[in-house]
Formats: sequence, structure tokens, C-alpha cells
Amino acid sequence: MENASIHFRNRAAKYNHSSNWVEDQTLIRRIYELSGAGPDALVLDIATGTGLIAREFFGKVKKVVGLDISPEMAQYAEGCMDEIVFAPVEELPFPNDSFDAVVCRQGLQFARLDKAIPEIYRVLKPGGTVVLCHLTAYGTSDRELAFAIQKLRNPARRNYLMPSDMSTALKNQGFQNVADLEYVTEESVNKWIDNGAIPRENMDAIRDLYRSADEEFKRIHNIRFTSDDILDDMLLVLATGRK
Ligand SMILES: C[S@@+](CC[C@H](N)C(=O)[O-])C[C@H]1O[C@@H](n2cnc3c(N)ncnc32)[C@H](O)[C@@H]1O
Repeated sequence: MENASIHFRNRAAKYNHSSNWVEDQTLIRRIYELSGAGPDALVLDIATGTGLIAREFFGKVKKVVGLDISPEMAQYAEGCMDEIVFAPVEELPFPNDSFDAVVCRQGLQFARLDKAIPEIYRVLKPGGTVVLCHLTAYGTSDRELAFAIQKLRNPARRNYLMPSDMSTALKNQGFQNVADLEYVTEESVNKWIDNGAIPRENMDAIRDLYRSADEEFKRIHNIRFTSDDILDDMLLVLATGRK
């Protein structure tokens, strides 16, 4: 497994255009709405990256703090949040009961979940809300190939997720009112794999995997081959809960 800090150092410059979901304002707004954060809320955006999620909260809540391990990603987050903190999600440098909402989009696939979820619970105030948004496979029929593709696209990935994995982890931690919301994002494979951090052979191997995919995978992902690209309807799951 590659080191996530090195991976995102190489990706930082291209990150904001490295998929359709990255820049999807409807998705970003949905995360904000699900958090329930009002003008008095203290909000933590975990794995804030270039600050695209924090930016949605900035100015609408009392304070939004971004947390990440990558200073290179943070260079692009200027003006998106009230404060940035460099630390891993596995060891959050905040006292117990600090935040009204904790959000994280596409960060926990790189983290130790057995440490990250208890930390999120610890820093949330009683009654506070968590919103986790992550790419998953659809089910048992597509997971093998979906995970192989994800691994080639991001060798720093630690967790390969099924739709209910995050909500199960939240329930096991003691979160209440846990729910999942599915969100399908149409991705251009050319755009998604040109992330600045993987070699040409990984990109070619990903295209080969799509071309040789079985019919069931192609049906589930609504795969379309255009003259110069491949389109894949990927699944994101938004898991929410209350402490
Ligand atoms: C795919 S980006 C997501 C950025 C942002 N949340 C978004 O949705 O655009 C993943 C981010 O997770 C950060 N990251 C990886 N492992 C981490 C960890 N253990 N603790 C905190 N951040 C981490 C990376 O540095 C990177 O900025």
C-alpha cells in the first residue's frame, strides 16, 4: 500500500478536476444539508483536502475546521475554512465533545476505521451529527472488479467499501438514527484516472479491466464506451448518524 501523504502530494495540483464528483455542487450541498449545521455550529471537515466541502460551510456556520495530513493539498484550500489542522483522523487533536457536526467526503478509505470512527464519536458533542460520503461497490456482483479498478487508480487506498460498511461502523460505535443515502455519479474514466499520481501502466490496466468486464458489471455500472472514453455510473453512499 502506498503512503497517502505521498499520493496526495502528487495529486494536489490536479485534484479539483480529478472526477465529476469532486466538483459536484449538488453533492456538496447535500452533505451540508444532512449535517444540519446552523449559524451557531462548530463543524469539523475530516480529510478536507483542497477544502471543497469546508467551503460550503464557511461563512454559514460559526466555525469550520478542516483537518488533513497533506500540506500540499491544503495549499489549494486557502480561504475555504476558518482554521486548518494537520493531523491524522486516527488521532484527532481536539477535546471530547468539541463539534456539532463532523463531515468527511472520500477520506476514510485511507484511514484505520477502528481508530477513526471512535475518534469522530469522541469529538462530537452529544446530539451532534456525522456525515460520511464514500465511494462503494454496488454489491457482491461488481465488487471484485470495482475494487481492482479502485486499487489501480489509488494505490494508497486501505479500505474497499460496500454500501453499508460505514453505517454498520457507525451503529457499532453507538451512533443513533443511522441512515444511508445512495448517490450515483456519472464519471468519465479518462478524467478519473488522470489523477497525476499513477503511472501510465495503471491507466492502461484500468481501461483493459473495463473492456474485459463481464456483462453484469457493465449493466450494474451502466458502462458506456464512447469514441475516446469510458463512462461509469459509480455509487457514493452518504452515511449519517447522531451521537
Ligand atoms: C480524496 S481526498 C478528499 C478531499 C475532500 N474531502 C473532498 O471531498 O474533496 C482524500 C484526502 O484525505 C487525506 N487523508 C488521507 N489519509 C488521511 C488520514 N489518515 N487522516 C486525515 N486525512 C487523510 C488526504 O491527504 C486527502 O487530502
